Amino acid sequence: MSLQGKHIVLGITGSIAAYKSAHLIRLLIKKGAEVQIVITPAGKEFITPVTLSALSDRPVISEFFTSGDGTWHSHVDLGLWADLMIIAPATAATIGKMANGIADNMLITSYLSMKAPVFVAPAMDLDMYRHISTQRNIEKLKNDGAWIIDATEGELASHLEGKGRMEEPENIVAILEQFFSTRNNLLNKKIMITAGPTYERIDPVRFIGNFSSGKMGFALAEECSSRGAEVFLITGPTVLSVSHPNITRVNVESAVEMHDAAFNIFPQVDAAIFSAAVADYRPEKMSEEKIKRSEKEKFSLTLTSNPDIAASLGKIKEPYQLTIGFALETNNEEFNAIKKMEEKNFDFIVLNSLNDQGAGFGHDTNKVTILSRDGKKQSFSLKSKSEVAKDIIDTIFETTEARNKKLEV
Ligand code: PMT
Repeated sequence: MSLQGKHIVLGITGSIAAYKSAHLIRLLIKKGAEVQIVITPAGKEFITPVTLSALSDRPVISEFFTSGDGTWHSHVDLGLWADLMIIAPATAATIGKMANGIADNMLITSYLSMKAPVFVAPAMDLDMYRHISTQRNIEKLKNDGAWIIDATEGELASHLEGKGRMEEPENIVAILEQFFSTRNNLLNKKIMITAGPTYERIDPVRFIGNFSSGKMGFALAEECSSRGAEVFLITGPTVLSVSHPNITRVNVESAVEMHDAAFNIFPQVDAAIFSAAVADYRPEKMSEEKIKRSEKEKFSLTLTSNPDIAASLGKIKEPYQLTIGFALETNNEEFNAIKKMEEKNFDFIVLNSLNDQGAGFGHDTNKVTILSRDGKKQSFSLKSKSEVAKDIIDTIFETTEARNKKLEV
């Protein structure tokens, strides 16, 4: 892998780990990248711009204006030039400013104007790292789309000792290479994703619904689109929004509406991921008027079954189309998931269990096991839904690539 021709903006802040940036620049350049340094005033206390400009072969940017001739550094141009920005080391102060848009130095203005993906390698002592305010800011950055590179545990370091320490430059470079290599691996692919809950109306003010927030499906949509795919995101009611221009969002309310939208879109896609929590039943008849409370102790609704979107599409799918289902289970998890995969003709099924803390509905995290039709099984730890989306797409991509290679031989 290489970083040949990649334009990388490296932000350096006031941490003792700034000495590692020198090595990071050398590694990035060795891999073929062009590196533009932006340093905060505090960063210059730890490493000199002279060293950095000699290593990067470019003037270091630290002030809004060049002293002497008043030339202005355009953070907007930098945002357009970059293929990627990485802040390494990133102090608690810089992370806080980034999370809150406090643009009082060139590094933060560059971040706010950045059009390219942003990576952040925190560096601070463990207490600062663990502080609720730092953790809140890191979470906020993640939600804003930044990628956090936490130090991996060294063989001798305990889990906590590793935290807060800046990741080693070699590992950072490997992560960036990996990022660029997967970045366009879904180019020219069309993917349909169902997400969120469905609402089945009882009367004009009430519905039958469920706790799905849409987060899992939206994370998958962002992941697929960031790898170059054209995504059709069919979503039930949710407060979430999408940011990537490759995502076409189709809003629906009920299972029947989701079914109709999916049937329209499915014939043109290469793959479909069914992450929506679709209501299995809907009221047989929706009341036109608001149902009034009566003196009767009991009230009953007659329900009728909804179409099974995934199962019906599974019947008409072409051999080149991949379908990936989800199973949200509470008991006999694996058995039920495999049964669903077979019944609905999925190539893969992603199992999440309500018995795992932090998994399933609503949370920002999920814990999944991916099962494939050819009997493979891979379990992952509890991770943010964006990381889970990455694992899901990586697994599907790797398995199908391997399968296609086998067929070619
Ligand atoms: O939205 P979040 O809050 O992030 O939560 C994510 C999630 C828990 C909703 C998600 O990870 C998940 O598990 N989605 C599927 C939940 C589910 O209802 O599964 P199921 O076992 O009922 O259905 C199996 C599969 O068939 C699913 O892929 C489902 O989308 C699909 N299905 C089910 C019923 C139906 N009528 N049509 C369908 O397409």
